[in-house]
Amino acid sequence: MTTDDSQDKPCLGACVSSPVAGRNPGEYAERFLKDFRGYKGCGVGESIIGGHVRATLSLPSRIPSHPHLVIPGEPATVEAARLGLAEGPLILEVGSGLGRFINGMAAKRPDARLMGCETRLGFCIKGLRRADHEGHSNLWMAWGDARVTIPQIVPPATAAEAYLLYPDPWWKRKHAGRRHGSVMGTVLANALRPGGLLVLKSDVEPYLNTMVEAFTETGRYDAGWCTSDMPMTDREIRLLSAGTKTFTAALFRR
Ligand SMILES: C[S@@+](CC[C@H](N)C(=O)[O-])C[C@H]1O[C@@H](n2cnc3c(N)ncnc32)[C@H](O)[C@@H]1O
Repeated sequence: MTTDDSQDKPCLGACVSSPVAGRNPGEYAERFLKDFRGYKGCGVGESIIGGHVRATLSLPSRIPSHPHLVIPGEPATVEAARLGLAEGPLILEVGSGLGRFINGMAAKRPDARLMGCETRLGFCIKGLRRADHEGHSNLWMAWGDARVTIPQIVPPATAAEAYLLYPDPWWKRKHAGRRHGSVMGTVLANALRPGGLLVLKSDVEPYLNTMVEAFTETGRYDAGWCTSDMPMTDREIRLLSAGTKTFTAALFRR
């Protein structure tokens, strides 16, 4: 993998963004980043956040509905999203948080249809409110673990791009099963069309390398490249202002 800290050049395999001048990323990492322990080969499998049961749940009555909110337990919302997402190049994001990146992409790519996947229902709603506020009608949010929602909503080999940006490293061993590995890699490979782009970013370099290794071992990806000209996520903004290095990898669906 090569590294590249320029904002303009394409990013090949993995690249490093520059820390903000005046801060010492080493100090920050020592204070806030813990040792990333790999659990490969230790019997820690990939688990579904919220369990498969979440895919059968309806929207809690206290939460207001939204026409672009996909609730896997409500087939009408799944069907509506399938129809809406079929109209243009499809872009997916896993772990959208409050939706800054996906709204940025919706603005940048009005020709595209975008779907963010988020396990936290409140974040799905906030992402959609932001879309309403910014006037994006091309964005949907799916509630639940992307390992469940993507196969349910996205027809195989239809997505043009997918983004997995700053996932939680799940430092504790008891949570390590929530990390993204070959199951997520396979789900995204199934959703992407041949040649489709997958971009991964993390501030925890060993986690990024572990994901790239697990995804590549599925045999479904080749090393890829991406431009660094993409909207920032909330976490990315915080990391850069704290002077923390970030790392990017790009893969192409084989
Ligand atoms: C560390 S936050 C990063 C959010 C955003 N990407 C950013 O960079 O600001 C990770 C987000 O991914 C969500 N998440 C974690 N695992 C997920 C999964 N398997 N499917 C969908 N969302 C997930 C979490 O709820 C959380 O909002």
